[in-house]
Amino acid sequence: MFEVVSNEILAENLHKMVLVAPRIARARKAGQFVMVRLAQGEERIPLTIGDADPEAGTITLFIQAIGASTRKIVDTPVGGSIRDVAGPLGKETHITNWGRVACVGGGVGTAVLFPLVKALAEAGNEITTIIGGRSSRYVILAEELGALSKNLLITTEDGSLGSKGFVTGPLGEMIADPARAPKAVFAVGPVPMMKAVANMTREPGIETIVSLNPIMIDGTGMCGGCRVQVGSETKFACVDGPEFDAHLVDFDGLSDRLTSYRKEEALRHAATDC
Ligand code: FES
Repeated sequence: MFEVVSNEILAENLHKMVLVAPRIARARKAGQFVMVRLAQGEERIPLTIGDADPEAGTITLFIQAIGASTRKIVDTPVGGSIRDVAGPLGKETHITNWGRVACVGGGVGTAVLFPLVKALAEAGNEITTIIGGRSSRYVILAEELGALSKNLLITTEDGSLGSKGFVTGPLGEMIADPARAPKAVFAVGPVPMMKAVANMTREPGIETIVSLNPIMIDGTGMCGGCRVQVGSETKFACVDGPEFDAHLVDFDGLSDRLTSYRKEEALRHAATDC
């Protein structure tokens, strides 16, 4: 059992939860995730390890409560516990000192971006972080990311915070300016956003890494649920990723797979709400 030591609401439907998990806290690296199951018989949910404190033996998870299972997880109070937390899973982020790096996060993808920005900052990179959301209510971790970045740029679709528009706006300006153009780009967020970023950086040849969020079931390479097409190869995001070269990812295929079970998910939500 994994005890919940804090459970904070960061934004609508987004919780920051700290769990006691000493072995995972010691072993985890940026980019890795855990599979969480609240109780026997419940759904297994893949969650990025947002941060870890090896001394305290805790890990931090950012959880977007959008489905029946994630809603139950975030309802676990401080002092309560989660039955299974398996990990760390997935490959760690390849971190080097590129010099100038842009880190782009959309919506809850910003939470996945956080450990990457932290690791890139520790490696001495000069980071411009660009985060965005539908409105100010969906922009998260601005203060924390601002502390790790040379520049923090915020966009919102309704203009309620930062500049009005999408994260691709400031990224495009950076790419067009030789004095500011990044040597590498990390992008995490909705599939259309990551696809747009990949299309912007392909022609100028800027190394671009995306963290993918396909459907996962076992998280260990056994079920094939998380398969994605990367170049000419089929990869399993849970063991080969979750980070991949954005210029090789089949984003349309990923999008199709993510929406394959919408009907079943809606039925489960309806059953849970009754
Ligand atoms: Fe089953 Fe990746 S989640 S193979």
